[in-house]
Amino acid sequence: MQAPQDLFEQATRARERAYSPYSKFQVGVAVRAKTGTIITGCNVENASYGLTICAERVALSHAVSQGILEFTQMVIVTDTDPPTPPCGACRQFIYEFASNLEIWTCNLRGTHRHFHLSEILPEAFGPATLNKARESKS
Ligand code: THU
Repeated sequence: MQAPQDLFEQATRARERAYSPYSKFQVGVAVRAKTGTIITGCNVENASYGLTICAERVALSHAVSQGILEFTQMVIVTDTDPPTPPCGACRQFIYEFASNLEIWTCNLRGTHRHFHLSEILPEAFGPATLNKARESKS
């Protein structure tokens, strides 16, 4: 299933802005808010390596800083074959805001993979888990 063209184009452009002098691995993301607004992100590395932030988390944090908390679709662009899936930390981060987000991973040659977050993060821990824990105590 082809990724939405507008998200693909914006993620591809964001990828070009990746700050990845250490890994040289560029990742671009575009996410669509429920309102229709598109927000982008790229990976931002750091000389201390462990402080590196993935493009998915940059995009969602960028959106949250604009007051946007609800999302419908995400496109991730890398230059790999097959396209790169989001890392485990990013899956968890996405789950916080969109428990079944529709995701495409794409490469520059037009190969697209499509899935929903629940397929790649089953039995997830999230806000509802904490609410249930609170309810069972009261
Ligand atoms: N990276 C992402 O941006 N998203 C992922 O889901 C996987 C990894 C980045 C982090 C780092 O800058 C580079 O790719 C190599 O791991």
